[in-house]
Amino acid sequence: MPTTVLIGAQWGDEGKGKVTDHLSESADVVVRYQGGNNAGHTIVVGSERFALTLIPSGVLYPQVTPVIGNGCVIDPAVLVAEMAELESRGIDPTRLRISANAHLIMPYHRKLDAVMERFLGQQQIGTTKRGIGPAYMDKFSRHGIRVQDLFDPKIFRQKLEVNLKDKNKILTKVYNSLPMEVEPIAEEYLGYADNLIDHVTDTSLLLWQAQRDGKKIIFEGAQGTLLDIDHGTYPFVTSSNPTAGGATTGSGIGPKAIDGVIGVAKAYITRVGTGPFPTELHDETGERMVELGGEFGTVTGRRRRCGWLDLVALKYAVRVNGLTELAMTKLDILSHFDTLKVAVAYDSLGDRFDEFPRQQRVLYNCHPVYEELPGWNKDISEVRDYADLPKQAQQYIEFVEEAIEIPITMIGVGPARDATVLRAT
Ligand code: IMP
Repeated sequence: MPTTVLIGAQWGDEGKGKVTDHLSESADVVVRYQGGNNAGHTIVVGSERFALTLIPSGVLYPQVTPVIGNGCVIDPAVLVAEMAELESRGIDPTRLRISANAHLIMPYHRKLDAVMERFLGQQQIGTTKRGIGPAYMDKFSRHGIRVQDLFDPKIFRQKLEVNLKDKNKILTKVYNSLPMEVEPIAEEYLGYADNLIDHVTDTSLLLWQAQRDGKKIIFEGAQGTLLDIDHGTYPFVTSSNPTAGGATTGSGIGPKAIDGVIGVAKAYITRVGTGPFPTELHDETGERMVELGGEFGTVTGRRRRCGWLDLVALKYAVRVNGLTELAMTKLDILSHFDTLKVAVAYDSLGDRFDEFPRQQRVLYNCHPVYEELPGWNKDISEVRDYADLPKQAQQYIEFVEEAIEIPITMIGVGPARDATVLRAT
């Protein structure tokens, strides 16, 4: 498939980095289209571990042009540091292309993210505190400062002054915080211009040309379907559209340019931050999933909440993204359980929900209806052919496939780059 969108089919942290890495091997362009450094992609190459937050993971392949699209929000300090880190480890970041229209995360966005969360108390979202929400708020209220403004110091200062007038009132009067000053921020940010100038371009045009030339393009979604601002478990979501539609608005390509949409889901499910989670386990089984799966966030180090695979949510992800296939990651973690549960519906006060409920209230009060499947209790981390997986593992995969009505084409059996079982469609 020449142009493929790859998205998280759960609440993020599905192991998309590894799947993008696999697809990037034969790709020409890899594009991030939403979010910012709230994302964390870990890729293990030999004995090296790369944790990227902003730069598309395709950067690890020398033939790939990594692109940060207009739909992203960029903290330039993080971007410049990530580029330097890659360079110090022998990866050339000069190929990176950045949309001139992407918005900047400013220091007051980070501060507002922190104080707004504190203010919410019990109702807090559990954000990554990277300033993501406030940066998108400014984008949509049309007060945002964009990457292109870094190259026009006069305009940059003007916009910053206007913003700070407003933000300082909010910081001091609403949140009882200290105000921020124009000059130190202007100096810091305008200082990044030299590092970035050679990378900034019209990325929509770049993608148009790449498509016209028959290049292979991968759109790498960050976070996941259930964290989508429109389709996720609002308000416990991120402030962008990780779902497949975001790939077009977040990069400037048309919907007909997309040939396929691959979803990525763990063989179980996790969530960081607050919000409803019907299959969450508060018991020893959940604890074991955390331990065995190393379920701690790449970005914030927070412990992830764990639960059994939720097919109601997964079917929803198939639908809202138009998924054409699924990659299932971390099947090896389930090797340690005698019996596996899979949620096939929700029960809320006696009502059965086979489809993802449109009301949050239902999600909070429902109980999963489980089907039980036998475990395999065998190490599968060395398996590379589907036929060599234990019968029970095949049964698990096929059970899921039947429910979601799309093929599972990739199965992760360990963290290493090659620990993947591929299946022909
Ligand atoms: P924000 O994106 O920092 O505003 O956080 C909003 C919600 O999305 C919180 O529940 C975060 O924990 C969650 N979130 C943001 N980025 C990721 C991610 O990459 N993986 C998983 N959860 C995320």
